[in-house]
Amino acid sequence: MMRHWKLFLALVLFQAYATQIFTQAAVFREYIGANFENVRFSDVPINPNVEVHFILSFAIDYTTGSSPNPTNGKFNVFWDADNLGPSQVLSIKRQHKNVKVALSIGGDTVGSKHVNFTAFSVDSWVSNAVTSLTRVIKQYNLDGIDIDYEHFNVAPDIFSQCIGRVVTTLKKNRVISFASIAPFDDGDVQRHYMALWKSYGRVFDYVNFQFYAYDKGTTIAQFLRYFDTQVANYNGGKVLVSFSTDSSGGLKPDNGFFTACEKLRSQRKLNGIFVWSADNSKASGFSYERQSQALLVKAK
Ligand SMILES: *[C@@H]1O[C@H](CO)[C@@H](O)[C@H](O)[C@H]1NC(C)=O
Repeated sequence: MMRHWKLFLALVLFQAYATQIFTQAAVFREYIGANFENVRFSDVPINPNVEVHFILSFAIDYTTGSSPNPTNGKFNVFWDADNLGPSQVLSIKRQHKNVKVALSIGGDTVGSKHVNFTAFSVDSWVSNAVTSLTRVIKQYNLDGIDIDYEHFNVAPDIFSQCIGRVVTTLKKNRVISFASIAPFDDGDVQRHYMALWKSYGRVFDYVNFQFYAYDKGTTIAQFLRYFDTQVANYNGGKVLVSFSTDSSGGLKPDNGFFTACEKLRSQRKLNGIFVWSADNSKASGFSYERQSQALLVKAK
């Protein structure tokens, strides 16, 4: 009898342990701060039963001021830091234990020109980026990084070495605890990110694939096919689905985005949802964010 109790106890403990290891909460992520719409973390609904990541947009390795120039990896803050500063980050994380905050590097434009990934040499770019990003991440009490370069002055292999080495170092130094990449369906973009994935895929926790960069009027069937294609491209990665609340394309919430999510959920493929962006959602009150989080609670 005693022996059975011990076996029972061992099974219960194993069960609890296994649940902890194998049940990874679905994640909700939202870009914030790029458009200076005075949006604050506290404006965005936060469901306590989902992991929520805010992604500050953007830190860029360009000079600030009227004619931005590349700085070879010395990052500056380009997001709305008046509304999204260090004290606001601390405050939202204190109020909600399920919230983490990351920064995204790169972005599409700086001062209405393209942000071009530019490095004088791999070693110098990596050294400057590690130093400057560590400073910003500590100053702002951040937890993670997202890679969102969309235009390139360097070959895929150079981009891969620069980004891969920086993210590896920041993780090893425990400056960040998670990292993601944000590619989209474009030949040059995919060449750069897939080179990065091939050499450094293991240091990335999420693939924020920009499904809203597909054509306007994307159907549910097309969306599900695109998802499978990107899961194959970023083999072994946690590919997250996404929609935008600005005028860009893809499958919109009103056209069946959540139906597609339900389908993925039933196939246990719904790892999480991210939104571009809080700045654009502010005017209409974040109803799709609420709906996304409610759906993700069921996806756990
Ligand atoms: C990035 O490169 C493009 C194409 O070469 C150029 O038109 C643009 O001005 C560059 N961006 C910046 C900020 O200089």
